[in-house]
Amino acid sequence: MKVTFHQLEVFECVARRLSFTRAAEELGLSQPTVSTQVRQLSDEIGMPLFEQLGKTVYLTDAGKELLVAAQAVRSTWSDFEANIAGLQGLTRGTLKLACVTTAKYFAPELLGAFCERYPEVEVRLEIANRDTLFNRMRANLDDVYITSLPPEDIEVEDLPFQENALVVVASMRHPLSGRRDIDLASLAPERFILRENGSGTREIMENHFGQHGFVPRVRMEMGSNEAIKHAVAGGLGISVLSRYAIDANPAHDRLCILDVQGFPLYEKWHLVYPKGKRLSAVCRSFLGFLGNSLDPAAAAGGERKALPKKSQK
Ligand code: PGA
Repeated sequence: MKVTFHQLEVFECVARRLSFTRAAEELGLSQPTVSTQVRQLSDEIGMPLFEQLGKTVYLTDAGKELLVAAQAVRSTWSDFEANIAGLQGLTRGTLKLACVTTAKYFAPELLGAFCERYPEVEVRLEIANRDTLFNRMRANLDDVYITSLPPEDIEVEDLPFQENALVVVASMRHPLSGRRDIDLASLAPERFILRENGSGTREIMENHFGQHGFVPRVRMEMGSNEAIKHAVAGGLGISVLSRYAIDANPAHDRLCILDVQGFPLYEKWHLVYPKGKRLSAVCRSFLGFLGNSLDPAAAAGGERKALPKKSQK
């Protein structure tokens, strides 16, 4: 059988996304190229790898077998690359970091500082919501991941490193703006603009509201912190967002932070990777860099590193 790494990579992406269109987008290829690569692979193997019912794409049994094999090949190859990078020293190689949507407000700066220290290192940053991130982790697509809620069904190494504070935001003109110590019941008439299902921000908020028996009236859901900020500033409703998503001076976003009882909700940002994963030399350098550059008290949980309530006003 003549099978190339590229064909396996294309196949793996289609199998993971269960969509030729989305795989083509992810890989930066045209859809006909993706289809051709998969067809050639399927011809070589002598069995269909996918079947399509209506608009839905399914893996055949042969496709499922090939997915396991393709992921094993990838993992063995990346171990090999890690070994070679180790033999060559720490200054070369690619760091593959994936982080949840909200971490985009600080992860690039973290990478900037890391690359300043290791100028030969290349970085690849993937940004996706929590659900998508964990699917990537299951498929072993990246070196390390940043999330504030580590997965429950994947065994991971977990390095908490700094605080993620979730706050209630409203338009600057909101009648509750400036009111102290607002109880949850006062938010009952409000319309909420929520992050999409699968978002960590949403899960943390729903856990908190659930614990207090509070059911928010939902106006709409959006998959983007930025879109939510504009909707809130425009008076469409209120929301719960990470403090990282909002300007240091919320007025610059035409927002205010409401002083709601129980808020901010504090979670930590965690750097996680599957237990037993063999880390590349570059990745080990990144972990060391992170460990050295962050506030140990915040990582240990002794201190609220996010902005304290008063300075958020
Ligand atoms: P999200 O995740 O950006 O998908 O909401 C944030 C988090 O993990 O807290």
